[in-house]
Amino acid sequence: MSVNKVVRRVTTHTLQEMKNKGEKIAMLTAYDYSMALIVDQSGIDVILVGDSASNVMAGHETTLPITLDQMIYHAASVVRACNRSLVVVDMPFGSYQGNSKEALNSAIRIMKETGGHAVKLEGGEEIVESVKRILTAGIPVMGHLGLTPQSIYKFGTYQVRAKEEVEAERLIHDAKLLAESGCFAIVLEKIPAALAKRVAQEVHVPIIGIGAGGDVDGQVLVLHDMLGITEGFTPRFLRKYLNMGEQMRGALEQYVSDVRSADFPNNKEQY
Ligand code: KIV
Repeated sequence: MSVNKVVRRVTTHTLQEMKNKGEKIAMLTAYDYSMALIVDQSGIDVILVGDSASNVMAGHETTLPITLDQMIYHAASVVRACNRSLVVVDMPFGSYQGNSKEALNSAIRIMKETGGHAVKLEGGEEIVESVKRILTAGIPVMGHLGLTPQSIYKFGTYQVRAKEEVEAERLIHDAKLLAESGCFAIVLEKIPAALAKRVAQEVHVPIIGIGAGGDVDGQVLVLHDMLGITEGFTPRFLRKYLNMGEQMRGALEQYVSDVRSADFPNNKEQY
């Protein structure tokens, strides 16, 4: 007799329950089917189809160039691989900043064309109208505050945000506003750990940190960074779980050498 294992999908409600119970949420990025399959099977709670695809997949310097069509392509590939994780799709630069109608239309395209479960937008008070409008269509929204890479040319650097009191208070205000507006979770990127802890304590929805210390409700990393595929990116917050770039290079060099020496294919590797 075969027993079918039923996999329970993580939902936005699951994440809220996890926060309420003090269970930490694990989130990673993915941009393609093959990687997402492995990530989903690892027990990860949330997969973010991040606009970091612009850097990691396409080699751009910033996240600004990636288009809505490109994000949809990545997200649809990821969704096809996922049975368990909640899949959140980044709304790319230029797809929601114009006005709330544009934001809603872009979010609807993402949901319809990818099968994703939620969208993520960067920003605070200035995006609240868009957040509320997207929510009226029944689309869950994740917020993103602190270092918001789509605003890199306004900030000028990728350094830690909200170290000064005025920016810190503004961030707390924005986090509360996003939660009150209906965001189901908020990413806090590269801010002081003490500030992130305060936000996680004062805001009722899950707070997911990247470079925001351990006293938040969950953590997110860029998959290719934590696997050691990306080169030359070594911020303090990044823990590398593998040296995959180096391992891949070794394997590829071995293949080249085997082909050159006619070691590959051998007698068993042919018909
Ligand atoms: O695009 C992305 O990968 C992100 C994470 C860094 C949170 O927004």
